[in-house]
Amino acid sequence: MSWRIEPFPEEGALLEGAIEVYAAAFAPPPYSDPDRGEEIRYRLRSLHRERLGFRGFISLSEPKDVSTPSHGVVGMTYGYCSQRGQWWRDVVARKLDRQARKQWLDSAYELVEIAVHPSFQNQGVGAILVNNLLEGRPESTCVLSTRTDSRAHNLYARLGFEIVTEMTFTPGGAPFYVMGKML
Ligand SMILES: CC(C)(COP(=O)(O)OP(=O)(O)OC[C@H]1O[C@@H](n2cnc3c(N)ncnc32)[C@H](O)[C@@H]1OP(=O)(O)O)[C@@H](O)C(=O)NCCC(=O)NCCS
Repeated sequence: MSWRIEPFPEEGALLEGAIEVYAAAFAPPPYSDPDRGEEIRYRLRSLHRERLGFRGFISLSEPKDVSTPSHGVVGMTYGYCSQRGQWWRDVVARKLDRQARKQWLDSAYELVEIAVHPSFQNQGVGAILVNNLLEGRPESTCVLSTRTDSRAHNLYARLGFEIVTEMTFTPGGAPFYVMGKML
């Protein structure tokens, strides 16, 4: 099977497919969160789409197979420019010393979300999506956070990301790696 990459859909069946993929990817442990689909629908509509530098991609299975779930969408990702005043950026900035803050956050693109349907993981879709998202970005770095108990950091390390710091985002919450890559 091969993959076709398309820009992140604004509406319609492919947007629903991307949301279904996201919900399916975060339903198993360590996230165990089957309700994430509705959260991301809300955040996309109310906040993320309007942010500077927003762009995203979906991957579709090719040839299209009626048995493929989620309208043929197997993976999705999106990001935007990291800017002061954004919750994630400000929480991470407070954790870093001045030099690290300057190095990683002064001109940063944020990889905000990435998910590949569990039936299609480990076939290279995630790497293709990250590479498409970062292609031609003018920022100096790409930054993201990922739970330390998820295996996603293996993929990011393979793509050239390093661990910037380890932190929690809520009191008593799960520990995350903040990772960064020079662009
Ligand atoms: C992380 C994720 C997007 C990777 O997509 P993918 O298409 O499987 O990625 P690739 O095939 O390009 O690369 C596979 C790598 O991802 C890692 N990985 C992360 N989560 C994984 C999972 N649930 N199953 C299998 N591999 C996973 C593997 O360790 C592998 O690394 P390696 O090749 O160095 O061993 C996907 O596994 C996923 O959607 N996971 C659940 C949601 C998530 O964790 N999102 C990221 C939050 S920051």
